[in-house]
Amino acid sequence: MDIKSITTKPYLDQKPGTSGLRKKVSVYKQDNYLENYIQSIFDSLKGFEGKTLVVGGDGRYFNHEAIQVVIKMAIANQFGTIMVGQNGILSTPAVSYLIRKYEAFGGIILTASHNPGGPDGDFGVKFNTSNGGAALEALTDAFFKRSQVIERYWMVDIPDIDLSQIGEQDIGGVKVQVIDPVCDYADYMQEIFDFKAIRQMFQNGFKMRFDAMNGVTGPYAHRIFEEMLGAGLGSVVHGTPLPDFGGLHPEPNLVHAKHLVDMMYSSEAVDFAAASDGDGDRYLILGKNFFLNPSDSLAIMTQYIDKIPFYQDKLYGVARSMPTSYAADFVAKDKNYPLYQTPTGWKFFGTLLEADKATICGEESFGASSLHIREKDGIWAVLFWLNILALTGQDVSTLTHALWQKYGRVYTSLHNYEELDSDTANTLLNDLKMRLPALKDQRFKNYQILSAEVFNYTDVVTGEESFNQGIQIYFTDGSRIITRLSGTGSSGATLRLYFNRLIKDPTKLDLDVQLVLKDLVEVASEILKIKEYTGRDYPTTIT
Ligand code: G1P
Ligand code: ZN
Repeated sequence: MDIKSITTKPYLDQKPGTSGLRKKVSVYKQDNYLENYIQSIFDSLKGFEGKTLVVGGDGRYFNHEAIQVVIKMAIANQFGTIMVGQNGILSTPAVSYLIRKYEAFGGIILTASHNPGGPDGDFGVKFNTSNGGAALEALTDAFFKRSQVIERYWMVDIPDIDLSQIGEQDIGGVKVQVIDPVCDYADYMQEIFDFKAIRQMFQNGFKMRFDAMNGVTGPYAHRIFEEMLGAGLGSVVHGTPLPDFGGLHPEPNLVHAKHLVDMMYSSEAVDFAAASDGDGDRYLILGKNFFLNPSDSLAIMTQYIDKIPFYQDKLYGVARSMPTSYAADFVAKDKNYPLYQTPTGWKFFGTLLEADKATICGEESFGASSLHIREKDGIWAVLFWLNILALTGQDVSTLTHALWQKYGRVYTSLHNYEELDSDTANTLLNDLKMRLPALKDQRFKNYQILSAEVFNYTDVVTGEESFNQGIQIYFTDGSRIITRLSGTGSSGATLRLYFNRLIKDPTKLDLDVQLVLKDLVEVASEILKIKEYTGRDYPTTIT
């Protein structure tokens, strides 16, 4: 087989963000752009010759062409086996699991997660290491560094590989295994959860709707919910991965899954509804007339995790990202589980999971998972909830109200100011940072500031420090305002503002979230000088 060295010139913008290198499709389509980045990844890794690489994507536009490039370059760079999902499809959690199960060297996931797809949308490349988790910053920094000086890449000149048939092909001594994207993952889920109890619940007439939002989870959901659990045909909607996600924005939240939310607040509502994002690592859960906040979801999962046999000998602790509400902290304290507060981004959970410190982890951004893999996992979260419902015979709303009755309700919301000029956003935050020491004890409306600090993090396992992971302002009543810049956007800057307010009065558990947080939101605008810096009166999205 003819391995060619192809001369190229560096692009200077290949700096990966929170989760891989995400760029507009048009950027990725530039000559050698993808090839440069893939080779920069391989050039930064050692000892993969003869080993296994898992490759798959969320089916978005350009997945098809890109996966051929990745496979051919992996062959040229002398991996021993390339394991690829049929038709190039693999969810992010499935890749994480396959890497672990087959002791692969690593994996390449073609996804920009929940960012829109299509010719005008985003594309992305993410590398996961042998533990199944996304490459850590030291490694992604190395990719970036390499990409700035790259002069050649390795490629084989062969026809496109047929990915439509499951089976093994030998290409010049390299094995290309086309696998069923769902099979191994589905078997694993059956090991973790009580499928029998869930099946029984469906037999008793329980009705669910799962909206795959035309992302990668369609095939997983059809197989697991409809076929294995008997949820009934038609329970899964938007179940075929489409290159442009059928025009949907595959982000399962109140804004982009509004159609599902509306259905669950109408007379058509079923018992339980859920959705996942483009690459299958996020989840949204709804009950009848009820939206389950991801922070509350983590708290309730923490309450019930000891009822799931798979976890009974692994109850180490709970981890949540800093902006995730402190609802889970109350439960963890009651259950005597250590609670870890990490910076935003799944990678920070990795060391805690590896060191048997955390069993379950969650983020307010509709992400949760456990030590079963090293990515967040949408289908897993939905199955966890189905298992809780089967176990308790109660519904989502009742279980959440029970949580609130016991600990109080942490009213929670995220306001995003999107597509800001990067300099403006940075100046706003730098100005705030300078003023933090002077904010302590100041009063705004009924709120008095208890502390106002930059969140710096020291990993309890490795001692590694991460600075500047957002700003936390605590008030004396326990309320909290957090702000940080998004690290996953593909253009401009997104300023995120997170609000938490704890209300313990049992007669005030069902108030309108935005109304409860109204004063706090105004206080934040004042402290951050949002209008002054951005000229904006309102956030772009509220979730
Ligand atoms: C966002 C979420 C974060 C999540 C990440 C990847 O990152 O806030 O919780 O881990 O996407 O899905 P951000 O854009 O805020 O940096
Ligand atoms: Zn995702």
